[in-house]
Amino acid sequence: MTEVLIIGASGLLGQHLLNEAEARRYSVTGTYYSEEVAGLERLDLTDFDAVETMIAGRRPDIVILPAAMTSIAECESNPVRAMLVNSEAPLVVAKACKSIGAKMALFSTVHVFSCESGPYAEDSKTSPVNILGRTRLEGENSVMETLPDSLAIRTCEDFGWNRLRSRENDVTSIVHRIRCGEEVNLPVDQWATPSYAPKVAEHVFDLLRNDESGIFHVATSSGLTRYEMGKRVCEAFGLDEERLEPTSLGNMGLGASLPRRLCLSTTKIEAKLGVSMNSFESCLEEMRIRH
Ligand SMILES: NC(=O)c1ccc[n+]([C@@H]2O[C@H](COP(=O)([O-])OP(=O)(O)OC[C@H]3O[C@@H](n4cnc5c(N)ncnc54)[C@H](OP(=O)(O)O)[C@@H]3O)[C@@H](O)[C@H]2O)c1
Repeated sequence: MTEVLIIGASGLLGQHLLNEAEARRYSVTGTYYSEEVAGLERLDLTDFDAVETMIAGRRPDIVILPAAMTSIAECESNPVRAMLVNSEAPLVVAKACKSIGAKMALFSTVHVFSCESGPYAEDSKTSPVNILGRTRLEGENSVMETLPDSLAIRTCEDFGWNRLRSRENDVTSIVHRIRCGEEVNLPVDQWATPSYAPKVAEHVFDLLRNDESGIFHVATSSGLTRYEMGKRVCEAFGLDEERLEPTSLGNMGLGASLPRRLCLSTTKIEAKLGVSMNSFESCLEEMRIRH
């Protein structure tokens, strides 16, 4: 039976990867970091000995690494830790995989690009403008150099139901805030091709099944402004659109230098798997049904 280790199975993507692996009847071990989750084991990526010991001891066939420092702000305020978690730890994982002959799948982000134009293809020029993007790119590069048949999956504004953590994403925060009667300010000048976590998990396991390697982008087929995303969410969940307030990024107090075009091209994965990426609307409909 194929043994899969998911480091960061308590995260949004990680929990959907775990569900997908179990649905495919793989034998799965998942890890958490900050808060205990029943059925998962604790692993701190910055404890390199523990990482090596877990991989050498379990000898999985596949190691999937969605765990990362994912917040732009946290990476800016703690660049040393961002380097440790996002750049150095993936290399430790890659070396441990190499020593036991395991396949590795690493997650990365649209922020390896400048996000000023786009949509970006896998071979578009990388040019990160923040510490998150720089540290993730370094992680990608060292993994691919060490273990060239690895997969590196870049996603963008991940969304889906988060059953294990209270962390919100673009979609769940709109649903919850409007249901609480709040107004939601959303920029009309920031575009994204959001990635739906359950679909990302499905496509990644299809790539692994086909023994693909290299970089792949996974996102929905829809390039929308954050305000348009909000409108689609209201339509899908029957929420009051009047609660949405169109604004500009500069007015959100987040810093005017935030990237404006978080858009990934998915032509490569569509050609490799012979599938079309789902639309944002169809993913919202699935979320509504699964609520
Ligand atoms: N979220 C997005 O919009 C987005 C966009 C583009 C790309 N991505 C990429 O997709 C991947 C998964 O993102 P996500 O949305 O699922 O993130 P998430 O929900 O924030 O999950 C992060 C995961 O990393 C774990 N983790 C954090 N620090 C760790 C450490 N020191 N040691 C071990 N585990 C640690 C967390 O564990 P605990 O929860 O137990 O602490 C959690 O399981 C990341 O590589 C991310 O860069 C995400």
